[in-house]
Amino acid sequence: ITALSVASEVYPLIKTGGLADVTGALPGALAAHQVTLLTLIPGYPAVLKAIDKAEPVHHFADLLGGPARLLAARKGELQLLVLDAPHLYDRPGNPYIGPDGNDWPDNAQRFAALARVGAELGQGLLPGFVPELIHAHDWQAGLTAAYLRYSDRPGPATVFTVHNLAFQGQFPHELLPALGLPPNSFTMDGVEYYGAIGFLKAGLQLSDRITTVSPSYALEIQAQDAGMGLDGLLRQRSHHLSGILNGIDEAVWDPATDTRIPAPYSTRKLHARALNKAALREHFGLRSETDRLVLGVISRLSWQKGLDMLLETMPVLLSEGIQLALLGTGDAELETAFRQVAQSHPGQIGVAIGYDENLAHLIQAGADALLVPSRFEPCGLTQLCALRYGTVPVVARVGGLSDSIIDANEMAIAAGVATGVQFAPVTADRLAAALVRAHALYCDRPVWKTLQRNGMRADVSWRRPAEHYAQLYRALLNARNPHLA
Ligand code: ADP
Ligand code: GLC
Repeated sequence: ITALSVASEVYPLIKTGGLADVTGALPGALAAHQVTLLTLIPGYPAVLKAIDKAEPVHHFADLLGGPARLLAARKGELQLLVLDAPHLYDRPGNPYIGPDGNDWPDNAQRFAALARVGAELGQGLLPGFVPELIHAHDWQAGLTAAYLRYSDRPGPATVFTVHNLAFQGQFPHELLPALGLPPNSFTMDGVEYYGAIGFLKAGLQLSDRITTVSPSYALEIQAQDAGMGLDGLLRQRSHHLSGILNGIDEAVWDPATDTRIPAPYSTRKLHARALNKAALREHFGLRSETDRLVLGVISRLSWQKGLDMLLETMPVLLSEGIQLALLGTGDAELETAFRQVAQSHPGQIGVAIGYDENLAHLIQAGADALLVPSRFEPCGLTQLCALRYGTVPVVARVGGLSDSIIDANEMAIAAGVATGVQFAPVTADRLAAALVRAHALYCDRPVWKTLQRNGMRADVSWRRPAEHYAQLYRALLNARNPHLA
């Protein structure tokens, strides 16, 4: 199968969240299934700087307001098509937000252009590369299926993956002509969404198949509570909606070969973790009292991630004698609040505000437990990394967190399968109780070691997910061309 992935982020070129990890790992994982997956991404400055040997393969005289070129390039194993459109992407910093902290005012055009070029590639723009299938990710690529649907040329099969229903890409309906969409696309079964143009909605409505990044999230979003206004549509399309749990890149996240941590280790050398724990404590200025549980957090600081509840729970954490090592960036209010608790409790609470991949690795390798108290979580990747690193995950029982962690209840412990602690409902009270429970488990060393070892043995690779995606691609292509089956 020849396929094209359309996404606005891809690791290691440009990343604001787990989306990039996923789009960065999928091509390699699918290669084992005879799927060749190229990736179309915007030519942000960081991307243009990072790619090797870019070769122009197409020129657009006017792509939504300016000239553009398509570059064929590679980065390691990744085969890329980079959309170099300076009028849309040649801007510093974050891909979505300007220096004033607001969305770029022309985000509709910026990501419509990406989708439009994705669609055109699907219709044979490059004679040497005609994908049979397009796999589009999140709202930024949501219009791909719309451009294909409202065109009179035949196009490839389409799969749309939603990584987060909270980001919907809603734009004023007046933009319809500027985006090159015909008036008849502005209907309830087209791109229209609550009177506006919905990029995510279009992807969900018009793609042949929808996936999301865990089976539980696929169910949750079909109910009003988590559906964010789209549950009706998702229920309607439930036969074409499935959840495939993400994996993690085992080469990037391997405690045995990780060059970013002071003491690499494996299940057989778990004691080496102590060196990483010491380094972590030193980094965060935490007192080196033996036997204190160090709780790690690596997260965007946003409502989704539930870390305001951790602030509420601080008295319990402090009285349990748990130490905290938190790395995160996001909402200014949360950043300030965490800086303040760190200031009031030096030696016990350590906070690093910012985005720092090396530090993320050190936390995974040195913390005893990793907390992910999300209100909703499509998949979540940090708990998967934590499993691999023998860092016991303490997670809210939602979405991909509930699918990837086996709670240490009595039966699971007895059966030897437990890997972490889950709590529900997602409230500060239950979080506090989970911290107390995790601490008690930590004090029972043999049980804790078993949790660590079980986690480290769990398969969090892309093997299984890749199999599911390959199966989905094949089934979809067969359904479209039954005579080829
Ligand atoms: P989301 O995509 O919703 O932010 P995920 O858990 O799927 O959540 O993915 C987050 C990814 O970003 C992980 O790879 C995690 O290690 C990384 N990450 C998040 N915050 C930071 C940070 N402050 N510094 C470094 N890496 C981070
Ligand atoms: C989104 C979700 C996260 C998921 C990631 C990759 O950012 O918030 O749960 O792991 O996408 O699919």
